[in-house]
Amino acid sequence: MYAVILGKNPKLSEAEFHAFTNRFGIKVKIIEASRNWIVFESSKKIEHLFHKLGGSLKLVKIVGEGEESIQELTYSKLFTVSIYGKEDWKLWRKLGSQIKKTFKSEGSAKFFKPAKVYAMPSELILKGFPETKDFVFIYGEKLWVGETIKITDPFELKKLDVERPVQRAIFSIPPRLARIMVNLTEVRQGNFLDPFCGIGTIVQEFILQGLNAYGSDSDPKAIRGAKENLKWLKKEFRVKKTAHLEVCDARKLKRCFRIKFDAIVTEPWLGKPLKYNPTRGEAIQMANQLDRFYYQVFDSFRDVLKRNGRVVFVFPAYKLKDGRIYRKERRWVEKLGFEVLAKYTDFEERHKVVRDIHVLRFKG
Ligand SMILES: C[S@@+](CC[C@H](N)C(=O)[O-])C[C@H]1O[C@@H](n2cnc3c(N)ncnc32)[C@H](O)[C@@H]1O
Repeated sequence: MYAVILGKNPKLSEAEFHAFTNRFGIKVKIIEASRNWIVFESSKKIEHLFHKLGGSLKLVKIVGEGEESIQELTYSKLFTVSIYGKEDWKLWRKLGSQIKKTFKSEGSAKFFKPAKVYAMPSELILKGFPETKDFVFIYGEKLWVGETIKITDPFELKKLDVERPVQRAIFSIPPRLARIMVNLTEVRQGNFLDPFCGIGTIVQEFILQGLNAYGSDSDPKAIRGAKENLKWLKKEFRVKKTAHLEVCDARKLKRCFRIKFDAIVTEPWLGKPLKYNPTRGEAIQMANQLDRFYYQVFDSFRDVLKRNGRVVFVFPAYKLKDGRIYRKERRWVEKLGFEVLAKYTDFEERHKVVRDIHVLRFKG
């Protein structure tokens, strides 16, 4: 039995987890799920593929139920304790001491205090994970006890973002989100296109996942940047595959691509960055204006997508002056032959525009 600990947007991370298990044919039986974690049964395959998830933090191997399962934990000289479902430092200390006592016959052991009652992957890496262990206590309907066996590497994701030779901070999508969006397609292999690729964050992810990677952008400078970034990626991450990059208007894709795509994953032009939170009226006006452009873009997707091809597309939603979020309904996508399979929002505190991520199927 395993558990995954979900990341900072748990709803999106949970959706990614389910899409990911479908994508890689991992059979999963959910035992218990809560806002921040899922306890489940599955084959060992999850251990080998866990690093392909963008939105989960940890994979935990469950060793038993109830506090007596502490006996099942394997000895480690240095460890920490992570508690989920309760925020109780007294309990945290008690569990740590209990584990230390159990380990006594095998040798001395020390435990260290994380910033919260649970350790984040970055803290674990800095303390020497996997030699340094993270013992996990999930307080749900039952108490699940386990040990973290895999973590998503925040330093790798950060490297993909900030060490690239060409950067464009406000326009770029976080690599974590690019990974989540690729999983949301549920397409395991094939031709993947990002028609608003900018400096190539999503295309980078296609390559890292061994997919046939295609990217285009109407701005020649962005394409030059993407080419430079991909050269860097090949060297730093030792990948062999390359991407096909074109200067192309996303409204005229068939002029640039002869092949058909299994999936399109993209964050398009979302309008000018906003300096303030708009009123509802202003948000409606901006969304309507951009929709005229997105309509042409989706019309062009029809020319290059395979039947049943998937699209993961970021539409803009807006954080309004009064704190609410304006999210437009877009019925026209169905008229163009796309079925909306799911919608999720992703919001970064510093942004006024909220990402309204749509997963769609092209009915053909
Ligand atoms: C939000 S950015 C995408 C950023 C990208 N995900 C990245 O990480 O670099 C939108 C991109 O759309 C491009 N763009 C704007 N209008 C376009 C059009 N009609 N066709 C293709 N690309 C367009 C811009 O040049 C810009 O690079």
